[in-house]
Amino acid sequence: MLITEKLGVGCMADNVVVVKNLKKYFPLKLPWLEAFLKKEKPMVKAVDDLSFSIKKGEALGLVGESGSGKTTVGRSIIRLIEPTDGKIEIGKKNIINLTENELRKERRNFQIIFQDPMASLNPYMTIGKSVIHPLEIHNIGTPKERKERVLEIFEKVNLIPAKEFFNRYPKQLSGGQRQRVVIARAIITNPKFIVSDEATAMLDVSVRSQVLQLMLEIKKEYDLAFLFITHDLASAKYICENIAVMYLGKIVEIAPTKELFENPHHPYTQILMSSIPVPDPNFKKKKIIPKGEIPSPTNMPTGCRFRTRCPYAKKECEDVDMSLQMINERHFSACPFF
Ligand SMILES: Nc1ncnc2c1ncn2[C@@H]1O[C@H](COP(=O)(O)OP(=O)(O)OP(=O)(O)O)[C@@H](O)[C@H]1O
Ligand SMILES: [Mg+2]
Repeated sequence: MLITEKLGVGCMADNVVVVKNLKKYFPLKLPWLEAFLKKEKPMVKAVDDLSFSIKKGEALGLVGESGSGKTTVGRSIIRLIEPTDGKIEIGKKNIINLTENELRKERRNFQIIFQDPMASLNPYMTIGKSVIHPLEIHNIGTPKERKERVLEIFEKVNLIPAKEFFNRYPKQLSGGQRQRVVIARAIITNPKFIVSDEATAMLDVSVRSQVLQLMLEIKKEYDLAFLFITHDLASAKYICENIAVMYLGKIVEIAPTKELFENPHHPYTQILMSSIPVPDPNFKKKKIIPKGEIPSPTNMPTGCRFRTRCPYAKKECEDVDMSLQMINERHFSACPFF
């Protein structure tokens, strides 16, 4: 059994998503002569041996700096891009083995919400038609039932009056309303699992908290498993039962949210935590600053990938492997020295 499967111990049968040893390597584009002469083709190891699981009705936050591989994880597990290796199960279905045709049918069970709703919606289609579209593709219900379902979901996501919104175009909505449309479209087929990739990052603060609240409500109401990808630890804290911290293609720490905030173990997690702004100006939080720049993913440091920036790095870090060590039953970290 994977140690990360222990997150939410006791009810493994409730796992909606199980990812084991996921890898996604992108071949690096080289000038043709160099590519011809090189025996070993250089790869960007965007996701390098990741394992986790997500239970019904729970959200796993995936946090980390830009370029750590979060989007690549989200896209790989629903096969918007083809994983290099690994096992992926969603709702007990082996996603890796599905043919194109089977995958198309299975897509009603998992959906993705992107950062920019304007880019995900067809500007020439009314939002009603956009949201009906997945029901048509999957041949769910009669035309009358489909329209009724869309109106019902519009009410749920607070696009009210639903009948009036049905005939509007994306440009006639605010950013927050557009993201509500994308959420409506994501839940219209009653999926088991949703990937949210920085879905609230473009919204201003007040609208962001309303959309986060909506996500929390639909997660509860539809008993959804969520992979919640974000830069923003505060949003992850609000939505997620568990959080995984990524650095250069690896999970460096994974724990229940409360535990991670109260007892961050890995130096990288501590750095992320120390950079969260605090509202009380009298409370002086010690800020830990990482050294230098994030290394190139084509030229990773040996041993711990974080060692070149870690304020506590020592000689032994050059040789450690980054497998997750148990801190307690539900808390794992990749730093053996801390
Ligand atoms: N199609 C691709 N071809 C080559 N390299 C890619 C491709 N997509 C992503 N990468 C590389 O994989 C690494 C991880 O990228 P990814 O977009 O997953 O990071 P991220 O954590 O989502 O970053 P951000 O927070 O900026 O969205 C980066 O080094 C990126 O350059
Ligand atoms: Mg991303």
